[in-house]
Amino acid sequence: METTQKYIEAHKERFLDELIELLKIPSVSADPSHKSDVLHAARSVKDHLIEAGVTSAKIFETEGHPIVYGHYELDPELPTVLVYGHYDVQPPDPVELWDSPPFEPQIRNTKIHPEGAVFARGACDDKGQLFMHIKAFESMARSRQIPCNIKFIFEGEEEVGSKNLETFCRDKKVMLASDVVLISDTAILSNEHPSITTGLRGLSYVEVEVTGPDRDLHSGVYGGAVANPINVLAKMIASLQDENQRITIPGFYDKVADLSDEEREAMNKAPYNEQKYMEELGIKDLMGEAGYTTLERTSIRPTLDVNGIWGGYTGEGAKTVLPSKAYAKISMRLVPDQDSEEITELFTRHFQDIAPDSVKVKVTPHHGGEPAVTPTDSTEYQAAAKAMQETFGKEPIPVRGGGSIPIVSLFEEVLGAKVVLMGFGLDSDDLHSPNEHYGLFNFYQGIRTIPFFYQYYAEARQEK
Ligand code: BES
Ligand code: MN
Ligand code: MN
Repeated sequence: METTQKYIEAHKERFLDELIELLKIPSVSADPSHKSDVLHAARSVKDHLIEAGVTSAKIFETEGHPIVYGHYELDPELPTVLVYGHYDVQPPDPVELWDSPPFEPQIRNTKIHPEGAVFARGACDDKGQLFMHIKAFESMARSRQIPCNIKFIFEGEEEVGSKNLETFCRDKKVMLASDVVLISDTAILSNEHPSITTGLRGLSYVEVEVTGPDRDLHSGVYGGAVANPINVLAKMIASLQDENQRITIPGFYDKVADLSDEEREAMNKAPYNEQKYMEELGIKDLMGEAGYTTLERTSIRPTLDVNGIWGGYTGEGAKTVLPSKAYAKISMRLVPDQDSEEITELFTRHFQDIAPDSVKVKVTPHHGGEPAVTPTDSTEYQAAAKAMQETFGKEPIPVRGGGSIPIVSLFEEVLGAKVVLMGFGLDSDDLHSPNEHYGLFNFYQGIRTIPFFYQYYAEARQEK
């Protein structure tokens, strides 16, 4: 292990230079005009795996973007770790709000990252974190300290719902068979407070269309007598939450698993400063479900949010029009034991129920994903905790995350393997936002910590 750590220290500058090159590729999975860039990123990731010393690596085409798979075979008697990550990124829009272009990485210092951070789309989510795994592997390979078999699966469609990876997993169950799945695509509480994510929320995502008259009308001639679909949609959306911010869809909470008082008490011990939280976001007050803390509202409770709303005239100046149509994109974050398809159905039924006869509504479901929770008393979790303890000098706090990684519950279902969510980002790294960045400390700390995970996991398995 000492030689691995020395190798990392000796090569850290090159690791960063290589990451910067990867960040220059605009692998935006949602935008068809970037299809060849996504392929370019896949090839680059594959080449890095081969260069790092895997037994073999390959690109698998899918109906969408490609999947990169590589493996290092040591001894079939030893356990196998499957590493997952995604090389696709979110669209960079709105580009004008970036302080440096999203695909021209720049290193700058911030208050939270005094040792520097690399600014680029995908820096933290998830190219920077994926790349830590390739460099940790390279360091172990060069110092001949690989304690188990390792498989790598890197996809290019996480940010658009991982549909093709789902099919791939079911088809390639044997190839992907492993004892544990290791993922770095989540955050720690802070660089002073390491943590391990012990759960993720699921997701149900719908688009709604409300239609009033069959064409746009003069708002003076018809206004007051004909339903305006935007007014109606606004009212319908407003009614989806009551004054306590509880979601009003019948049956929505039926399957929500309540935590015991002890569990809630334990999770609220995580460091949290309300004043700082608000200041950092530029807000004067918080808003959320009555009876729950911020930490609970962003992890163990389900939510409903409008992600976008449009319709009518939005150009320069004023146009007096009573529009024919109004639209919104609505997401619901789900918690155990809610089921995304069931929630989508409940939403659809309710939304149709509450629509007045003066309009027609259409609900179109988008991709979804199931929630996941991981135990803390497992060999897998304990190995990750020990690894972080080693590099941070502090025991990591288990925390449930608010985001979603749809493939997590699928890995558990199809491969029957436990997932360890050992991420190194920070919630404040502006993922999906302008000026996304990843701390250099976090990047290197990840590379240093990952080899310890393999070591402690392999050791624990041997003792069993
Ligand atoms: N890495 C994130 C999820 C995440 C972020 C988990 C921070 C925990 C902390 C992932 O890339 C992501 O953005 N997922 C999407 C879901 C997907 C279906 C588009 C999300 O959570 O919105
Ligand atoms: Mn991600
Ligand atoms: Mn993301």
